[in-house]
Amino acid sequence: MDLKSIENIVSLCKRRGFIFQSSEIYGGIGSTWDYGPLGTEMKKRIKDDWWQSIVTKRSNVVGMDSSILMHPKVWEASGHVSNFHDPMVDCKKCKSRYRSDHINLEKPCKKCGNTDWTEPRQFNLMFQTTIGPINEEGNITYLRPETAQGIFVNFNNVQTTARQKIPFGIAQIGKAFRNEITTGNFLFRTREFEQMEMEYFIHPDESSRWLDFWNQERLDWFLRLGIKKNKLRLRAHGKDELAHYSSACYDVEYEFPFGWSELEGIADRGTYDLDQHNEFTKKKLSYFDPKTNRRFTPAVVETSAGVDRTFLTCLVDAYTEEEVRGENRTLLKLSPKIAPTTCAVFPLVNKNGLPELAEKIVEETRKQFSSFFDQGGSIGRRYRRQDEAGTPFGVTVDHETIENGTVTLRERDSMKQIRISQDKICEAINEKIIS
Ligand code: GAP
Repeated sequence: MDLKSIENIVSLCKRRGFIFQSSEIYGGIGSTWDYGPLGTEMKKRIKDDWWQSIVTKRSNVVGMDSSILMHPKVWEASGHVSNFHDPMVDCKKCKSRYRSDHINLEKPCKKCGNTDWTEPRQFNLMFQTTIGPINEEGNITYLRPETAQGIFVNFNNVQTTARQKIPFGIAQIGKAFRNEITTGNFLFRTREFEQMEMEYFIHPDESSRWLDFWNQERLDWFLRLGIKKNKLRLRAHGKDELAHYSSACYDVEYEFPFGWSELEGIADRGTYDLDQHNEFTKKKLSYFDPKTNRRFTPAVVETSAGVDRTFLTCLVDAYTEEEVRGENRTLLKLSPKIAPTTCAVFPLVNKNGLPELAEKIVEETRKQFSSFFDQGGSIGRRYRRQDEAGTPFGVTVDHETIENGTVTLRERDSMKQIRISQDKICEAINEKIIS
């Protein structure tokens, strides 16, 4: 897959209602995107699947939902005010701005060919805002650049109310904001995005065991979403790449058309965050171990995935162009788990009571899956539209349905069609989803 495919995916997303450019009718605003009807469904399924696998299925991980605006001191304590910087350079001729660690300053500017750069300078990535109507220094706070701090500052509240014993995790999904110097590659790097984060609190002697455990769990989750195994890898951070809070970190990476890039970070944050909040607040965020009668500050292994990056990965991985009987077919081979629509129902022709019958089948299948009724255009065109939307199953209602109650069930990827009783549609789809 080449870079051109990203452009094709962007246009498919607009055409089918997955993603639109934000504020499009005003000319758009750089690198911000709105999720349309299909995109919203798919994004919700990704988040639900993560929540199932991290929280619902585990008795020792609980969820929370903290606010985006927090006390400004949180960001001093966490180190984001003094350390959350990227190095920035400008081309002196065309004023284009780059992250100096993302380009070779020996080479000319990509836009104008000039080689005269400003000195690299540090740029803090947090978005500032003011609380209340007056813009004074004391009112300044930040839009959170990670959801994690909302978990750390609530450590005592959650641990005591959920009565969890170490090791245990606190998870949340929510928006984060970063004033990135360079954005791009569609949803990959944006200024507003969503994270799915889990902080796993452990005894400090056990960091390396839990880091290994969560590396494997998280890699397996991406595989279960249907991402191709040969496109995924786990990469250890070099010492020079580590964030200010972490002593070891692994990235789950995917091979995008623009190269191997991070989907998720799994980091050993040690006791850094709780220690910092203890020092700044003089409160004791710590754990009393009933086995040893001792109190200690737990260490943390964090798993931090981007919702939008996972969404982009699923799209890129599923995007397929192929030739079928001399015609081009574009399809999204999305796992039925995350496909926005599971089943589309088509009347073969718009007469003889077939549309009414098809609508009844949609109502019936909707009790179990998201189903869609489509009667517009030739049956071939309707199949193609649903292939592009990633709908894994199509049900066609025809004159035989009236005669003997059977329909055809079509699979998106193989295009194979089988004839089954209309009462067995849900059963057949369920079987195929499981197999
Ligand atoms: N709490 C740790 C943390 O925030 P991070 O590696 O900076 O770690 C975690 O971010 C994940 O959030 C990334 O792996 C990525 O999926 C997502 N992410 C970070 N910055 C992003 C951006 N500008 N646009 C989209 N997703 C982003």
